[in-house]
Amino acid sequence: MDYRIRLAAENDAQAVHDIYGAYVPLDYVTFTVDNPDVESYRQKIVNTLEKYPFLVAENSDGKILGYVYGSPLRPHDAYQWNVEWTIVLAPDAPKRCGIASALYREFAEILEKQGYRYIYGVLVDTNEASLEFHKSLGFSEVGHFENAGFKLGKWRGIRWLVKRIGTSEGEPHKPLKLSEVVD
Ligand SMILES: CC(C)(COP(=O)(O)OP(=O)(O)OC[C@H]1O[C@@H](n2cnc3c(N)ncnc32)[C@H](O)[C@@H]1OP(=O)(O)O)[C@@H](O)C(=O)NCCC(=O)NCCS
Repeated sequence: MDYRIRLAAENDAQAVHDIYGAYVPLDYVTFTVDNPDVESYRQKIVNTLEKYPFLVAENSDGKILGYVYGSPLRPHDAYQWNVEWTIVLAPDAPKRCGIASALYREFAEILEKQGYRYIYGVLVDTNEASLEFHKSLGFSEVGHFENAGFKLGKWRGIRWLVKRIGTSEGEPHKPLKLSEVVD
């Protein structure tokens, strides 16, 4: 499979909207019930790129196969070295070919350069593919919250997984802006 990984741009918003939107009607990928509009995704790309990587995998025809981005774990200052991530492949993108793992590697490499310490994944607890995927990357499960959300007529649980990407030793510097570590 021929593809490249690059930083997202504003005009990827439609593809990101459509990929995520394909999973919104399902019960095991996301707790989102109404897919935000394309403009919301455009703003999300722009805002994310100030502090976190937002990467897309694109095939040789320019089709977006999947994407990954970071967001704050919690709003308070002392949490700033933690990143919650979202990673999604298009429903028709080839699976089990290593695309998501390749996205992860570039994502984590950039985060580490910025000075972030931990990546958190929050999964619907019935998403077995995502659970196995996280474990394959070395994430550990650190929490299982039952009945965390109500969607499609049923209470559903979530799992929290975490992976350390930097050292926890010593006093950390404030994470660098994305523009300080990538061109
Ligand atoms: C989960 C997802 C991101 C995995 O993407 P992918 O490109 O197929 O993953 P990779 O090929 O990099 O897989 C790496 C490893 O993860 C594990 N894995 C991935 N998908 C799996 C599945 N369906 N079942 C079991 N293990 C799986 C395997 O260990 C795999 O290695 P292997 O294929 O050599 O056995 C993709 O299936 C997806 O986007 N699903 C829908 C959206 C979603 O659930 N996103 C995560 C929300 S938290």
